[in-house]
Amino acid sequence: MIDPSHFRRVMGHFAAGVAVLTTLRDDGRPAGLTASAVCSVSLQPTLLLACVDRASESHRFVEGSGIFAVNVLEEGEGETLARRFGTSTGEDKFLGTAFHAERTGAPVLDAALAWLDCRVRNAYDGGDHTIFVGEVEAAETREGTPLLYYRGGYGRFAP
Ligand SMILES: Cc1cc2nc3c(=O)[nH]c(=O)nc-3n(C[C@H](O)[C@H](O)[C@H](O)COP(=O)(O)O)c2cc1C
Repeated sequence: MIDPSHFRRVMGHFAAGVAVLTTLRDDGRPAGLTASAVCSVSLQPTLLLACVDRASESHRFVEGSGIFAVNVLEEGEGETLARRFGTSTGEDKFLGTAFHAERTGAPVLDAALAWLDCRVRNAYDGGDHTIFVGEVEAAETREGTPLLYYRGGYGRFAP
């Protein structure tokens, strides 16, 4: 075992895209968290994985609803969304944020650069996180520049 903060610092060198993972609460209201631990898994069937902290509020709602959407963020406004969805203040993270439902009913953010609408197919133990494998039922993109996360800070892709 290595020190968790050292692990976090080293993994911070793996530049990542930033997404908001959204889902539905038991009462049908939206829930979500900022997530960079998202990865493509399979083409046939179309599967992706997302690692969600067991201690997060969103975790039990993904478990409960069995659906989630991965909303890939754009630079600019996306950074504001990443900061808002990346902290648990108890306030409504969706206030003033436009969203709509696609195939599964999970909230898709209108501001997303790309989105993938998923139904949970499997959930695996991932230490203090759960690895949710989702079957992608719908997905779309638009033009824009992605938001990146690197060594604890936000940045943009420069080809
Ligand atoms: C850039 C960034 C990436 C993050 N990636 C993840 C992630 O992949 N999985 C996760 O569980 N939490 C991740 N987090 C932390 C959650 O967004 C954070 O714990 C959030 O407050 C949980 O919200 P909730 O309790 O309302 O569900 C990330 C935070 C930031 C800022």
